[in-house]
Amino acid sequence: MKKQNKKDPIFALIKKEEQRQREMIGLIPSENNSSDAVRSVLSSCLSNKYSEGYPQCRYYEGNQVIDEIEIEAQERLKKLFHVPHVNIQPYSGSPANSAIEFAVLEPGDTVMGLALSSGGHLTHGHPKVTFSGRYFHSVQYGLDANARIDYEQVRQLALKHRPKLIIAGTTAYPFILDFAKFAQIANEVGAYLLADISHITGLVIAGEHPSPVPYAHLVMSTTHKTFRGPRGAMIMVTAVGLKKDPDLANKIDKAVFPALQGGPHNATSAAIAIAASEASRVEFKKYGQQIRKNTDALVTALKDNGFKLVGNGSENHLILIDLTPFGAGFGTQVAFALDVAGIYANRNTIPNEPCSPFYPSGLRIGTPLVTTRGMKEPEMTKIVQWMTRVVDHIKDEQLPTDKKKRQVFLRDFKKRMTCDVTLLQIRQEVQKLANQFPLFTW
Ligand SMILES: Cc1ncc(COP(=O)(O)O)c(C=O)c1O
Repeated sequence: MKKQNKKDPIFALIKKEEQRQREMIGLIPSENNSSDAVRSVLSSCLSNKYSEGYPQCRYYEGNQVIDEIEIEAQERLKKLFHVPHVNIQPYSGSPANSAIEFAVLEPGDTVMGLALSSGGHLTHGHPKVTFSGRYFHSVQYGLDANARIDYEQVRQLALKHRPKLIIAGTTAYPFILDFAKFAQIANEVGAYLLADISHITGLVIAGEHPSPVPYAHLVMSTTHKTFRGPRGAMIMVTAVGLKKDPDLANKIDKAVFPALQGGPHNATSAAIAIAASEASRVEFKKYGQQIRKNTDALVTALKDNGFKLVGNGSENHLILIDLTPFGAGFGTQVAFALDVAGIYANRNTIPNEPCSPFYPSGLRIGTPLVTTRGMKEPEMTKIVQWMTRVVDHIKDEQLPTDKKKRQVFLRDFKKRMTCDVTLLQIRQEVQKLANQFPLFTW
């Protein structure tokens, strides 16, 4: 049986993907590598067990050990974040946000979140195409002229629309979030405040970003980004949350199960417990500090090489490069060419996007992954040198203004770039550096 399994081409593909990850430099700010301990737990026997319900209150027998694991994970997180209640069962960040919305809103109630085009997440009330935008009345706030959250606009919109839930959280925003200001506004209108810290959890733990715990009623985080755990999520209810609504923890638990989910992924629960223990180590603090140092080094090198940055800098792990000086909608070409050259990032819209979400004018990059691999400031400078060469090499590859011609152009562009000698030369240089760093190091 074992032999047969090894012959399955899926194993060869996993090896191939591992090699890709090792040989390339990943700059996607929402990605990270987890430790061997976290990953080994994920393939353990724990995934064999059904455990609908919560510790000591299950709908299946045989959960004595699973109960111990889930309780241990909860306790570690409660201690790490200083919160009285945590639910680790959400399958991922999007279901976790849906559970929170289900818990505190009725259909048609008002939810306020940062617009997707300003760096918010789909689950924060993006209209029409999402659960949060279709089942609730969604009001979206935006940025000021300096690309920072416009807190006065947040307040004015809150006073006008009286939302029941305000979400403070971002997926493409390079600055510190002012949770105290958000709390002031939420309290003024009697709204629940949810801090979605999915991107910045690792920085919060390391003391590199202010914690939302003293201010927000609810805190949600994915567990696979800067937290460096398995794919999953946690919902924390804070002391101020319980003060506002003593039934809040119960509402959250019921929303996760039975309202939206079935059995928890027990292997993930155990891996979250391992990641929580790793995050309490002094080395994790150093990792958080290095994320900031690496981001600062990237910012400096990018500016020195003439790149324009949204907001002119970064205060967290993420940088948004504004590529409009090279032409509107240039993000697709840059992201593709970089991928061929061995560096993967993601194309992204910029505030007041002049082109379109399909052909955006920005590139979103971040440092968690390279920091986890042990790269430091000198490597950041090298990465920017390669990025500069790539962008310079393709600067004449402009998107046609005639929309009908764009697909044809991109098909031809991608075909040519895949075998482009300059990009493949850079790829070899990138590979040489990347191979010197393990996927995960303390
Ligand atoms: C701020 C924020 N919230 C929620 C999510 C959703 O997480 P998932 O992709 O695990 O559903 C993301 C993912 O990008 C995110 O950035």
